[in-house]
Amino acid sequence: MEDGIQSMAKILITGGAGFIGSHLARKLLDLNNDIIIFDNLDSFYSEELKRKNLESIAPSDKYVFIRGDIRDYTTVCTALDDVQVIIHEAAQPGIRASLEDPMKTHEVNISGTLNVLRAAVANNVKRVVIASSSSVYGDTNELPYTEEEHPQPLSPYGVSKLAGDHYAKVFNEVYGLSTVSLRYFSVYGPRIRPDLVLPIFTKALVHNKKVKIFGDGEQSRDFTYIDDIVDGTLRAMTKNNIDGEIFNIASGERITINKLYTLLGELVDRKITPIHEKEKKGEARHTHANINKARKHLGYKPRYNIKQGLKKFIEWYQDNTFYLS
Ligand SMILES: NC(=O)c1ccc[n+]([C@@H]2O[C@H](COP(=O)([O-])OP(=O)(O)OC[C@H]3O[C@@H](n4cnc5c(N)ncnc54)[C@H](O)[C@@H]3O)[C@@H](O)[C@H]2O)c1
Repeated sequence: MEDGIQSMAKILITGGAGFIGSHLARKLLDLNNDIIIFDNLDSFYSEELKRKNLESIAPSDKYVFIRGDIRDYTTVCTALDDVQVIIHEAAQPGIRASLEDPMKTHEVNISGTLNVLRAAVANNVKRVVIASSSSVYGDTNELPYTEEEHPQPLSPYGVSKLAGDHYAKVFNEVYGLSTVSLRYFSVYGPRIRPDLVLPIFTKALVHNKKVKIFGDGEQSRDFTYIDDIVDGTLRAMTKNNIDGEIFNIASGERITINKLYTLLGELVDRKITPIHEKEKKGEARHTHANINKARKHLGYKPRYNIKQGLKKFIEWYQDNTFYLS
């Protein structure tokens, strides 16, 4: 750990039982920090998987787990005693979920984030790092795009994440709270969320089932391996002079969904022709990040390209098939 915040800091991770949060918790424990995981084990996907995520972090006596909801301001405040840093990962994730229930996305991602920021101010927290998303951008004029690109979200989820970015900046300017927003791009790796394209494809291929690809499959994504996301987030936690800033955290490369499907098929040794269905609303045609700002100010340098990351993901999956069963 470098710059401002020392090792042994007390860090609260909202959403720490989830995919990204559990990797962050694990890494921060390895670095000798004092960790509190704050998570309501939301039913968006199975509680059992989230409990397994918690088990894989460390034995339960090595960290504090609080089952709590970020929509409840008092509970968040109670959890913040002596906390120096909040890494705010808790959210109602997913574009489709937000189309089905925009109100829940609003309440968790906007009101919940506002609670976390208010509680941080009230409890003198030194820094809040917020998980934002590529979904804030929508369809852009140029690829790859920088943080300066005019955001034009296409879904309630994208709107909610953009509101979080704005709140973080305003809380920095108005209340002097040190905030940093990280726009993550399509994260994958061990313990991945089961609603995402990669586990859906992998599961279908392994079980010899037909895969549905929405649209022509030539839409593309900047897929980012979880270890690079953890590295970018830890850098944002510790660097000085980045208050109120927003950073793209991505691989900086993009791949079409058709190509992703072919690569996965090669890795699991299956060739099944996919079915193409009507494209889904709310999704950008392409995502592709310019990561120069994170390189310059955070020293961020992604280590995994898609082939290397997929190989590691499949190796993990072969030992943990229950995750995607
Ligand atoms: N996975 C990706 O590709 C991706 C991409 C961009 C941004 N993000 C953002 O990264 C963060 C983590 O995403 P993830 O993929 O790990 O999702 P996840 O669903 O695995 O983790 C989110 C965690 O938040 C918890 N949670 C949900 N509502 C809560 C509430 N009201 N109070 C307390 N806890 C609550 C859930 O139980 C879950 O454990 C989210 O903010 C998401 O929007 C993820």
